[in-house]
Amino acid sequence: MPDTLFGNDAVPLDLLTERAHNYRWAEVDPGVIPLTAADPDFAVAQEIRDAISRYAQEGVFSYGPHRGTPSLRIAMARELSSRGYSGVDAQRILPLDSAASCMYAIARAFLKEGEEMIIFDPVDFLFEQAATSVGGRVRRCSYDPGTRAFRLGELDRLVTPKTRMIGVCNPHNPLGRLMTDDELETIARFARKHDLWILNDEVWSDIVFPPRSFSSFHHLPDSLHERVITVHGFSKSFGLAGLRIGTILAPSEAAYSKILNASHVMSTAGGASTLSQVAAETALDHCRYWVDDFVAHLAGLRDLAVERLNAMPGVCCEAPEATYLLFPNIRETGLEPEELTEYLKKNAHVAVIPGNDQFFGPGGAGHIRLCFATSKKLLVEALDRMDAAMHALAKNQDRFSSHRN
Ligand SMILES: Cc1ncc(COP(=O)(O)O)c(C=O)c1O
Repeated sequence: MPDTLFGNDAVPLDLLTERAHNYRWAEVDPGVIPLTAADPDFAVAQEIRDAISRYAQEGVFSYGPHRGTPSLRIAMARELSSRGYSGVDAQRILPLDSAASCMYAIARAFLKEGEEMIIFDPVDFLFEQAATSVGGRVRRCSYDPGTRAFRLGELDRLVTPKTRMIGVCNPHNPLGRLMTDDELETIARFARKHDLWILNDEVWSDIVFPPRSFSSFHHLPDSLHERVITVHGFSKSFGLAGLRIGTILAPSEAAYSKILNASHVMSTAGGASTLSQVAAETALDHCRYWVDDFVAHLAGLRDLAVERLNAMPGVCCEAPEATYLLFPNIRETGLEPEELTEYLKKNAHVAVIPGNDQFFGPGGAGHIRLCFATSKKLLVEALDRMDAAMHALAKNQDRFSSHRN
């Protein structure tokens, strides 16, 4: 057993090399440290392992309830009510096989071919993919790189007769930013004025660094979240990505019923596995301490990483208010994000995500994204290697100064 939950010896490297996919340990060359997909390098809380083992030992894996296990829905409702969300009802919570799947189901329920969803730029690719999976189109609201706030003044220009939905990622991947109460209210009023649904992705809402705290649409007056459909996940805060589990909170019976039809759970073609629901329920009921310790660990790493990145030539990095993602601006290097990503993989043996269209939309240009949900030792090793490689790049190319902006 490792000394502490998030200590240097708490990263099970052999198992990660076997099991951590999606750009991570199992997919990179030996010796490369992946700071890529947003997925913790740590084993999950003991309570979750025990609950899964107990359930598995009993040996019964019959079909579960179509709408998800009542105990998970009740646990989720309790969790959200304890955060001060108003109007939460376990009957309107639907567990599905991942937050990603929840986003797709919401798009199927509320967007038709040729209709539009306004999303932010940059933002995680799942928003665009959910819209295009039903033949929908996205229109993007840009952000101000100085303040890192979205230019909500653009919304009126982006809305058309075909707009049905606005996708909000709060906390934001990849900017690590929290929406303010004022911003949430502006978006909610805009949605109400134009009769739009809000696809509200709160997958990152557990990973928030004090003194900042999380505000949700559900903290606003009821009339402002009547069209908010909220997605939660268990991959980021509890390390359950491989179990594929997430939940939707629908604002009304009618919205819930549309989502239910679109989710394919009634035909058994969709839905979360019962084992994953056991894990999620245990996480909510017994593992809050684990997330608290995780966030405390991450807060230290965030400060360390931001300081180290800003000391690298050509790199400029803001500290995220939430998430374990860093999104440094690398324009000054004169390299495209893909070029720098390749360079770092080859020369620093560190893998990162390029800020390109594929991952984040055009607004990701000039950036790379790093995930720091690992041990201090591994992160320092990765940053040391990056630092040496960036200094070598600056020295060899002597080009950074000409690209200052
Ligand atoms: C903003 C956002 N939404 C959804 C997801 C998907 O989460 P899940 O693993 O539950 O599908 C991610 C994963 O990176 C994410 O960052």
